[in-house]
Amino acid sequence: MRERLTESIVLRPIEQSDVKMIYKWNNDEFLGLWQGCEFVSLSEYQKRYDSGGFNNGLLQLLIIEVDEPVGLFVMKFPRPGLAQLGISLLPNFRGKGIAYKALQFAIKYIFNNYQIERIEADTDIENSIAAEPLIKAGFKMEGILRKYRFHHAKFHDAAMYSLIRNDFELIRKRKEVKNGKSCAQADSCRCCKEC
Ligand SMILES: CC(C)(COP(=O)(O)OP(=O)(O)OC[C@H]1O[C@@H](n2cnc3c(N)ncnc32)[C@H](O)[C@@H]1OP(=O)(O)O)[C@@H](O)C(=O)NCCC(=O)NCCS
Repeated sequence: MRERLTESIVLRPIEQSDVKMIYKWNNDEFLGLWQGCEFVSLSEYQKRYDSGGFNNGLLQLLIIEVDEPVGLFVMKFPRPGLAQLGISLLPNFRGKGIAYKALQFAIKYIFNNYQIERIEADTDIENSIAAEPLIKAGFKMEGILRKYRFHHAKFHDAAMYSLIRNDFELIRKRKEVKNGKSCAQADSCRCCKEC
């Protein structure tokens, strides 16, 4: 599957020709200062690729492309009902709405294709930029997870964000109303001001 998010942004699985590049992306410049990178050899990446490790029932690691690969998008399915998201972009491609577009797609894709009730993402509390696309996509901040992430030699607090299936339905209904379709439950619905 290759998903076109906009005219220029594509989301697609990792191919053999990407393996060396994602190995090189395992650094602070790409991952940012708010998450850790690990020592993983190129042959380990190759093994993961060969065993289907980047795309299986528990993990979907995808390339974000704007003519060329510019980032990674991860969807994890750690247990029934739950999905977790993560994203990293090359510095030159940040602040252009790519994360928001990828999140919008992932939310719809996950709720439409999996029996998932909750999508979550956590961010280092100092990584305020990472929270913004989540909030813009409808995620709600639930609380602070103390000393939840270890990177750059110490433990860091994280903020947990989630979007549950009910939120997704409300967002969908709001969009329908905005696009001129009337809400099916207009009399009783309190999903938005338009009802
Ligand atoms: C976090 C990250 C994925 C965000 O992706 P992005 O494509 O730059 O985000 P978007 O452009 O979709 O931004 C969505 C909103 O976030 C806010 N935002 C984005 N970049 C911002 C910046 N540099 N300063 C302030 N606000 C910013 C804006 O409100 C924006 O909405 P707007 O376009 O309507 O103004 C990207 O910065 C990144 O790759 N960072 C390094 C890796 C990382 O920290 N990943 C997250 C780990 S949890």
